[in-house]
Amino acid sequence: MSAEWRLTPQRASDVDAVVVPVWAGELPAELSPAFLAGSGFSGAAGQTLHLPGDPVTVLLGCGPRAAYGPDTARTAAARLARGVGGYRRLAVQAPDADLRPLVEGYLLGGYRFSGYFTAAPRVDQRIDLVAEDTPEARAALATGLRVGGAVLLARDLVNEPGEALTPPEFAERALKISSDSGLECEVWDAKRISHERLGGLLGVSRGSLVPPRLVRLRYRPAEPAARRIALVGKGVTYDAGGLALKPNAELATMKADMAGAATVLATMSTLGALNCPIAVDGWLPLTENMPNADPIRVGDVLRMRSGATVEVRHPDAEGRLILADALALAGETGPDAIIDLATLTDAAAVALGRRITAVMGTDEALSEAVRAAGRRAGEQFWPLPLPEEYRTQLTSRVADLVNYTIGVRHGTALLAGLFLREFVPPGIPWAHLDIQGTALSDTDDGEWVPGGTGVGVRTLVELLVSGGH
Ligand code: BES
Ligand code: MN
Ligand code: ZN
Repeated sequence: MSAEWRLTPQRASDVDAVVVPVWAGELPAELSPAFLAGSGFSGAAGQTLHLPGDPVTVLLGCGPRAAYGPDTARTAAARLARGVGGYRRLAVQAPDADLRPLVEGYLLGGYRFSGYFTAAPRVDQRIDLVAEDTPEARAALATGLRVGGAVLLARDLVNEPGEALTPPEFAERALKISSDSGLECEVWDAKRISHERLGGLLGVSRGSLVPPRLVRLRYRPAEPAARRIALVGKGVTYDAGGLALKPNAELATMKADMAGAATVLATMSTLGALNCPIAVDGWLPLTENMPNADPIRVGDVLRMRSGATVEVRHPDAEGRLILADALALAGETGPDAIIDLATLTDAAAVALGRRITAVMGTDEALSEAVRAAGRRAGEQFWPLPLPEEYRTQLTSRVADLVNYTIGVRHGTALLAGLFLREFVPPGIPWAHLDIQGTALSDTDDGEWVPGGTGVGVRTLVELLVSGGH
């Protein structure tokens, strides 16, 4: 579905349906109480009631007036989008002057991954926002479309089958998206990756018949920037578990193991248009984790970019191996902060569920800035610790570190975080977002639709465009 959005101070006469916001407790007096009671419509956020006519009137519940804000607006619009996709020309009366969450919500809730249906239902919509045409309203509409569109881009990448979105193909898309959005983009092939001594990325990719890539993205604002932040995203385009082949139920979701990389790419694609004031670098290590070709054996020792050696104890703990190299690379360039996103551990999902992303790191202020940006953008984060006394569980008898502690079932999200910390230069504030639980949704409600969520895009855009931490 694609749409053309307009701002119309007066509702055009040629619309098929008009959406009228209604506050809970203030239902329109012209509708009979008996009719309303029978319809079940109470004005709760996102409820809709279609009233026949020309145009059709769609009442949109916005909840109690006093509780209305960006989060309600986003949810209401996301629920609305599911029921009005069939109207070619839609007018939406804005409940208040804040158009951005309305636009975002509509895009998020109306999204479906339909690229592989032979007869994809496709309605090109014209959506008129009935609101005053002010510079602020225009900017809110444009920003909503940008940010919402970036979330959908991340979702599309996550939902793409593993066979279709291999590391080389991901890199091709990164080049295309970069040239469309004014980013610099450099792609390292296997030879360059080897030359750069990215032992973690090379090690993981050895099991795969398709070669790895490393994508380096650069955004620079028009004015010289006072600050520079590096983003690192886990890009395992398919995680079969390597020699430790996963069972089928887990294999079913492993095309999504590049969600971190997708979020970084999608986030950075908005920065130019939104005049982000700070410089941003993106580092995306891309590989499959497969049991073909010459897969890493348990017991093999990898020499990482940082120079440290890692004994591989578990071929399925591959994310931390490729992130270690990307974190080291990012660290070498001396940014003011590093933030990584990764579908890293099941433990993070077990701890915080499907709606809250785990944050770990070395800098209270940075973690808090991420959480605060999340609150403004409508995404939830919660801190997990990196306990110093667990660090001993990473020691190896044959190398500097192990990638996995045999026999330890507990606290594995924290151990993964502690492992990554080893590769971040001391002194550079670093935050690690484990998005394993939140990168995919299995429910269909509000802004959440089944499949990739694009989690992190809204928060990172908010954090970066507002100037960092
Ligand atoms: N991509 C997975 C995360 C994952 C695990 C997603 C389980 C869905 C279900 C990651 O690479 C991984 O395999 N993590 C494992 C590591 C462990 C098996 C060594 C984890 O922490 O669960
Ligand atoms: Mn794995
Ligand atoms: Zn993985």
